Amino acid sequence: MSDDVKKGLLGIVVDETTVSQVMPDINSLTYRGYAVQDLCEKCNFEEVAYLVLNGELPNKKQLKNFVKEERLNRKLSKEILSDIRKMPRKAHPMDVVRTAVSLMALEDKETKDNSPKANMRKAIRIFSKTPIAIAAFFRARKGKKIISPKRNLSFSENFFYMCFGKIPTKEMVKAFDVSLILYAEHSFNVSTFTARTITSSLSDIHGAITGAIASLKGPLHGGANEEVMHMMNKIKKPEKAFKWINKALQNKDVIMGFGHRVYKKGDSRVPTMEKYFKKVASIKKDKKFMKIYDIVKNVMIEKKNIHPNVDYPTGPTYHLMGFDTDFFTPIFVISRITGWSAHIMEQHSANKLIRPLSKYSGASHRKVMLLNQR
Ligand SMILES: CC(C)(COP(=O)(O)OP(=O)(O)OC[C@H]1O[C@@H](n2cnc3c(N)ncnc32)[C@H](O)[C@@H]1OP(=O)(O)O)[C@@H](O)C(=O)NCCC(=O)NCCS
Repeated sequence: MSDDVKKGLLGIVVDETTVSQVMPDINSLTYRGYAVQDLCEKCNFEEVAYLVLNGELPNKKQLKNFVKEERLNRKLSKEILSDIRKMPRKAHPMDVVRTAVSLMALEDKETKDNSPKANMRKAIRIFSKTPIAIAAFFRARKGKKIISPKRNLSFSENFFYMCFGKIPTKEMVKAFDVSLILYAEHSFNVSTFTARTITSSLSDIHGAITGAIASLKGPLHGGANEEVMHMMNKIKKPEKAFKWINKALQNKDVIMGFGHRVYKKGDSRVPTMEKYFKKVASIKKDKKFMKIYDIVKNVMIEKKNIHPNVDYPTGPTYHLMGFDTDFFTPIFVISRITGWSAHIMEQHSANKLIRPLSKYSGASHRKVMLLNQR
């Protein structure tokens, strides 16, 4: 590969952003200038969603209005709900949620309007409705009755309620809220860049988020939290973890939930999520995954100097909360909608068509032969 080809856009700065900053050298991630660790301890997810979308933390009145709008939009049309009920039970929930957002575009009165105000209204509608689609499929594929959202519940409480028909303890809801805060935004990752690329042709927010969901599904990106759980289930017992990970490394396997394109000395979101994962494991009185977690992590750091990324602790946390493994990445979606939307609006506000170049390495110029001569 010649030096002028930057495969994977490695190290290339393609635009400016005011949404978040990743500083791998000092292990820091900030949203609009605020450290994520602080946001996790001092704010709930709705406050952080407002921050990511609007650029500032809300005051009481702004939060009240934002929460009111999010709750008022918690409804899906009976047509979309009926489509979700009919979707194949074996379909991957990421394909269902991608399709659901695409269907929302057909019904939204402002789909074509890319003005800043319309984009913000659409972002909030997608943000409110997407968890309903995910929870509906969570129940429908098990043959269970779909549960309607409740407007007197917080964003996280309502998601638990729509999935399980009940709300867990405050500590559990806080752990879920923290995971959503940590998943909300992460600069020019592949799904966000996909959303910005789609937007750059002046396409609409529903299309950009649909494309971003497709991108997030991959195991090298959001899909890693599901793969982490598959790995832990394969390991089965803490006593087997050491041997398992050493063998996997000998086989040169890629270990899911480890490594990062930007963070090479550790992911700044991990310590916070790890703390809440351990809290959830204590509440559930189930320390098996915690032990496997520590053994695999220690071997990866000692032998490869490769650190866990945020998907490593979120996988087992969601499992302990009772979510099916293939719903872990859709949970990531309900949070990242905020980051994607902020980037889509930023792209619209200072747009330049994204169109990189490629170096041609195919056949040299040749003549077209007629069909009967080939
Ligand atoms: C995230 C990821 C794609 C970053 O990739 P990248 O920046 O292109 O880095 P590379 O894949 O080139 O990795 C550099 C080296 O570390 C190794 N490496 C990186 N992540 C690894 C992992 N999870 N397990 C084992 N080895 C890994 C690579 O094999 C490579 O080794 P080499 O130089 O001997 O070939 C990669 O770390 C990965 O595949 N991780 C697992 C998936 C995952 O957890 N994704 C979620 C990210 S938030």
